Amino acid sequence: MSKTPTEAALLIELESVVEENLDRHIGLAQEWHPHDYVPWSQGRDFAFLGGEDWAPEQSKLDETAKAAMFTNLLTEDNLPSYHREIATRFGRDGAWGTWVGRWTAEENRHGIALRDYLVVTRGVDPVELERARMDYMTSGYDSGDKTALEAVAYVSFQELATRVSHRNTGKATGDPIADRLLARIAKDENLHMVFYRNIVSAAFDIAPDETMRAVTDEVMRFEMPGASMAGFRKNSVLIAKAGIYDLRLHHDEVISPVLRAWKVFERTNLGPAGEQAREELAQFMTGLDAQATKFVESRDRMRARMQARSDKEITPLAQA
Ligand SMILES: [Fe+2]
Ligand SMILES: [Fe+2]
Repeated sequence: MSKTPTEAALLIELESVVEENLDRHIGLAQEWHPHDYVPWSQGRDFAFLGGEDWAPEQSKLDETAKAAMFTNLLTEDNLPSYHREIATRFGRDGAWGTWVGRWTAEENRHGIALRDYLVVTRGVDPVELERARMDYMTSGYDSGDKTALEAVAYVSFQELATRVSHRNTGKATGDPIADRLLARIAKDENLHMVFYRNIVSAAFDIAPDETMRAVTDEVMRFEMPGASMAGFRKNSVLIAKAGIYDLRLHHDEVISPVLRAWKVFERTNLGPAGEQAREELAQFMTGLDAQATKFVESRDRMRARMQARSDKEITPLAQA
């Protein structure tokens, strides 16, 4: 991918910040092993080796937990696409290149651990999972023609979004083993977020207007990479209904804290173009907050209706 001269200069200017944050990351990241988190004693052979194939009643996960685990794993599985996304923008040289390699290796661990857990515990249908992985990886993920600055702004939010989603998925499984595994993965995602967030902070000082524009655009068009995944729409609805990832969390726990860390609304070094972008962002955030409130209100009403219905069904039995 060809870079504009300004973009190439910015990447070079950011190199020392990347190096510093790479060292910080390596100092803070703890080594962990997927095999430690998987309950191998629950595993057994499938029919191909004389055992029994998967059947829905073998899964201890409810429909929501299944949908969230399936979505999270497939999202992790598409790593070659994300690697390409960042490798083409950040390059293979110096600290940028080292980060690309290190980040890719850490992310791969997430997919390994989640797949081992799901296959061993028979949490989801392994055939459906494998077919969905083949389709999703074959179609790949392409974020379009993002600049390096846009890409680094996007991943600051995306890493935090995966952290929230993994953390809440763990809780939704009702299995302390899965919860521990997903909490471990979520810790990695948080460190990734901090890395990217620090790079964008530095970019705000070097090129405030361009960075402000990139941040505004990425917030306004934010989407998790997964639209082409099998069952994505249906699973996203289940995930939002259960409060694993919804607009409220997106606004309160993903976008807002990152914007606060960048002191976006307090910066005094913006020119007219930066001010314009910031104004658009402020308006967008107000709208997003209102949408999130609406969503939560309608979810509350739906939950109340479901509760009332199940109370009705339980009462005659309780009286009998
Ligand atoms: Fe990950
Ligand atoms: Fe990550």
